[in-house]
Amino acid sequence: MEKYVVVLAAGKGTRMKSKLYKVLHQVCGKAMVEHVVDATRAVKPSKIVTIVGHGAEDVEKVLAGKSEFAMQEKQLGTGHAVMQAEGQLAALEGATLVVTGDTPLFTSETFEKLFAYHEEESNAATVLTAEAPDPFGYGRIIRDDQGNVLRIVEQKDGKPEELKVKEINTGVFCFDNQELWSALKQVGNDNSQGEYYLTDVLEILRKAGKKVGAYKMPDFSESLGVNDRVALAEATRIMQRRINEGHMRDGVTFIDPATAYIDADVEIGNDTVIEGGVTIKGHTVIGSDCLITSGSRIVDSQIGNGVTVTSSTIEESIMEDNTDIGPNSHLRPKALIKRGAHLGNFVEVKKAEIGENTKVGHLTYVGDATLGKDINVGCGVIFSNFDGVKKFHTTVGDKSFIGAGSTLVSPINVADHAFIAADSTITKDVGKYEMAIARGRQVNKEDYWHKLPLSEDEEWK
Ligand code: UD1
Ligand code: CA
Repeated sequence: MEKYVVVLAAGKGTRMKSKLYKVLHQVCGKAMVEHVVDATRAVKPSKIVTIVGHGAEDVEKVLAGKSEFAMQEKQLGTGHAVMQAEGQLAALEGATLVVTGDTPLFTSETFEKLFAYHEEESNAATVLTAEAPDPFGYGRIIRDDQGNVLRIVEQKDGKPEELKVKEINTGVFCFDNQELWSALKQVGNDNSQGEYYLTDVLEILRKAGKKVGAYKMPDFSESLGVNDRVALAEATRIMQRRINEGHMRDGVTFIDPATAYIDADVEIGNDTVIEGGVTIKGHTVIGSDCLITSGSRIVDSQIGNGVTVTSSTIEESIMEDNTDIGPNSHLRPKALIKRGAHLGNFVEVKKAEIGENTKVGHLTYVGDATLGKDINVGCGVIFSNFDGVKKFHTTVGDKSFIGAGSTLVSPINVADHAFIAADSTITKDVGKYEMAIARGRQVNKEDYWHKLPLSEDEEWK
């Protein structure tokens, strides 16, 4: 049986009260609609059509290469939305899954089970349902005394008796594709919202003598529809738990999984320990045997094996195997920390390479620089890379020693095995085996004490 998917994503999402279109709001670093499309891709449909309208360009960008698109110029309801895919789908034979773009928690297993049930029952339409603890806002499944599905009523159209029903429409349907297109033509808009409801297709098919049914999920949590920020936070909490449990099953230790915020696409190796209060975002890869402590934030970065990140921020950077950083340090974009290098506390690195086994222990800024191997950078060193107009580059050779408190005024080349004496302001290149000292000379004035109006035993105030 050929499978097709229609994803509804044309609405504005008024209840989000946002400049951003609803389906683009992120859950664990991924737009809601992308979660939906990714889960449907796993069931291998031969076509996915996403219905776009509000923010069409942005939605198409997020889903580029993953879906075809159909434009719904005016948002006249979910049934009207599906109709926009007529050109792409109406001629085909098979089963069509319809999902809304604001239900990010469905798994591909659920979609597979729905397809299988739909086929087994030879239904014309199967709705995916669940018992909602609080069904307010959802369409309700109305059944007869024998339990057969009669129709779906929307919150705004339901009679008080109907609204007591806790079984809800999750917004996911499986249709015989041909039956879908013929029934959609009969959907009207005579309801409280004046919209063409997809949900009416069920009753239309039943009345035409076709077999309709429901596949009820054992628990509600996947069905959460996100219409406002409260539901967005709830969806994030559920998704986060799922992501973290996946990592735990793969051998990652979480000290407090409830407060570790790991985006959907992050990879983490086994025997790595993640403390509470850690955020790892974007396309980050973390190796095995690492320790990431509280307060760390890692974005779009690659962390090798055996790395310790102590309460530090890392953005668009690479830390190779057996390196460490922190506490309270910051890798800004394009920092490359090579094997075995050590970055201590209050160190900031930007667009710079720190060579193998080089040590930058304390209170230092390294920007626009290439540092070789086995270098010792003392406390409080500044790579002064900016003259107010342009940025300049500094190079430091292997096994050099940069004394504490020095400033290297770029552009500077420091050769291998060079020394810079503490507190030097370096404005000229330093050659191999040389020692540069560039600071004011100390002068000691004799007998200064006796020039002051102080007695020998007086205390400082
Ligand atoms: C819808 C269902 C409801 C179900 C709930 C599940 C209908 C009439 N109601 O209600 O039974 O319980 O989902 O979450 O189907 N959209 C369009 N074009 C439109 C209207 C909507 O593309 O003209 C898209 C929206 O972008 C959204 C999705 O369809 O992604 C659902 O629309 P929404 O307004 O959120 O429907 P609900 O009121 O939640
Ligand atoms: Ca919704």
